Amino acid sequence: MTVYLNGKFLPIDEARISVLDRGVIYGDGVYELVPVYRRQPYRLPQHLARLQRSLDGIRLANPHRDSEWETIIHDLITRQPFDDQGVYLQVTRGAAKRDHAFPLDAVPTVFIMSNPLPVLSREQIEGGVAVVTAVDERWLRCDLKTISLLGNVLARQFAVDHGAVETVMFRNGYLTEASASNVLIVMGGTIIAPPKDNLILPGITYDATLELAREGGLPLQIRPVTRDEALAADEMWLSSSTKEVLAVTTLDGKPFAGGKPGTVYRQMYRLFQASKPKALSAA
Ligand SMILES: Cc1ncc(COP(=O)(O)O)c(C=O)c1O
Repeated sequence: MTVYLNGKFLPIDEARISVLDRGVIYGDGVYELVPVYRRQPYRLPQHLARLQRSLDGIRLANPHRDSEWETIIHDLITRQPFDDQGVYLQVTRGAAKRDHAFPLDAVPTVFIMSNPLPVLSREQIEGGVAVVTAVDERWLRCDLKTISLLGNVLARQFAVDHGAVETVMFRNGYLTEASASNVLIVMGGTIIAPPKDNLILPGITYDATLELAREGGLPLQIRPVTRDEALAADEMWLSSSTKEVLAVTTLDGKPFAGGKPGTVYRQMYRLFQASKPKALSAA
């Protein structure tokens, strides 16, 4: 597989960084995951805007202008042998003598790879997925897409240990998000989404879902969601770049929301599929 590292395209086996890279030592960096359908990035400007926001949040200068990112990403996409891809891009503060404070002269490390986009199974789409719940034990800047992901890693492993795809988390009795997805609920036909504050990642798929709901005339509220509301909701959805929108049908080992995706989910699923790039010529 061809990857991009600091200005060069090269086979992944030849991509090398320093063991002193601050990404390795401190998790001092940010990332993006851009879904690519039929070789066309989905909502790339929004991903680049979020990258800028994350870089600002950790006080790291953006090494590229958006037009440069676009060129590099498109170049990497054309070098892969598959059409549907997940472009992972990461910027760290670079290699420097180990010291917590920012180095004065480090050059950011830019690494990009593109893997096949995971294929969602019919079973996941039509039958929904299982989640478990847990207390959100992460830090208070979950709005930054940093590579310091240990809290998310542990939450995701908790899901795997319990045969679930995700761990849905609550902080002080309120729904936040899942280990690698946003969480939305439906009550009485209204989609309810937790606000984009410092406790959740501002998901690009979350935004897409809300936009599609507005365009499609589906009732929508953005407000804090209590744990009790979430657990009693008519529907619960996960949204992410690799999951699109999936319905939760098992929660903590018990059937949830009637054990099958709800009517509002099915409408959203149709809207979402219609919003994806269709053909190579559609760019
Ligand atoms: C913690 C967390 N929340 C939400 C999301 C969903 O974000 P997006 O829709 O931009 O993929 C992700 C994606 O990886 C995530 O890691």
